[in-house]
Amino acid sequence: MKILFYMPHADAAAWLHDFARALPDADLREWQPGDTAPADFAVVWRPPRDMLAGRDGLRAIFNLGAGVDAILALEHEHPGTLPRHAQLIRLEDGGMAPQMAEYVAHAVLRYLRRFDEYQTLQNEREWHALEPHPRESFTVGILGLGVLGAHVAQTVAAFGMPVRGYSRSARQIDGVRTFAGEAQFDAFLDGVKVLVNLLPHTPGTRGVLNAEVFAKLARGAYLINVARGGHLIEQDLLDALASGQLAAATLDVFREEPLSADHPFWNEPRITITPHISALTLRSESVEQVARKINALVRGESVSGVVNLERGY
Ligand code: NAP
Ligand code: GLV
Repeated sequence: MKILFYMPHADAAAWLHDFARALPDADLREWQPGDTAPADFAVVWRPPRDMLAGRDGLRAIFNLGAGVDAILALEHEHPGTLPRHAQLIRLEDGGMAPQMAEYVAHAVLRYLRRFDEYQTLQNEREWHALEPHPRESFTVGILGLGVLGAHVAQTVAAFGMPVRGYSRSARQIDGVRTFAGEAQFDAFLDGVKVLVNLLPHTPGTRGVLNAEVFAKLARGAYLINVARGGHLIEQDLLDALASGQLAAATLDVFREEPLSADHPFWNEPRITITPHISALTLRSESVEQVARKINALVRGESVSGVVNLERGY
């Protein structure tokens, strides 16, 4: 069994070493430009088109992340890039769900307990208590109730504020009020104080964080975008902050990454910026998951996490 690996900026030797331990019979190699030799499986993150195009022998492509938008964009721009018979399989959690829950819970609690405002007071050497936000109306709305969204929803619900979740198909999660489909979108948004985005980036979700949506939230709401930069209409966020409809935003993802040094978001103190780190791909969990699925496919079994190319996630 031949396995091709490609992950820019990663320690490829360490990944190949761990895969060799998990799959001792595999013939593993890091893909280099010009390598067109056959392979059965590809394990990739943001691969170049040349790596995948024409590889009709591939049985599966494992995406070393939850979001497959970058691979699907290749196929959209150059139809036929994805080998026709290869399944595209994404990471399911792989240690990302706890990280995402920590990141979102931290941001929600920072806003609930007004820690940003206390930091400003401290900078000014001012000692006074602020009016607390009432917990019972500090409604957190989570867009996307998949592997990550569902875990985040349950984690945040444990702090006692009302939690809502929104997905395409109906979901049931203890302690979370769920909404499904476009017909329930406005009811989901109505009165939400913290909007968290954990949707996949697809043609149906692009630009979903926009002025019309912000206007339906509670006045002075907060935005946490941990999914993809393409979900956000950037000028609409700046306008909503200027008008007071949004009080602040925490952004981990951006239309262009790295965020350019002259981007207006850097100058807006109400925007908290992190460099796409809310849930990192972890080597040991990812190797274990991918190796387990490769073994299952070799035995002729089906695996979970197969991307529906029509839906885009
Ligand atoms: P997932 O398991 O595929 O869940 C996606 C959820 O979104 C599902 O609940 C799905 O509804 C819902 N959804 C999809 N399209 C929708 C639409 N048009 N309207 C309403 N709901 C829709 O994905 P995941 O593993 O939770 O990951 C979510 C995203 O997080 C990834 O795609 C990636 O972009 C992002 N991410 C970011 C980082 C980071 O470090 N910033 C790390 C990992 C992942 P159904 O339940 O009905 O299918
Ligand atoms: C990271 O952004 C991922 O999609 O896993």
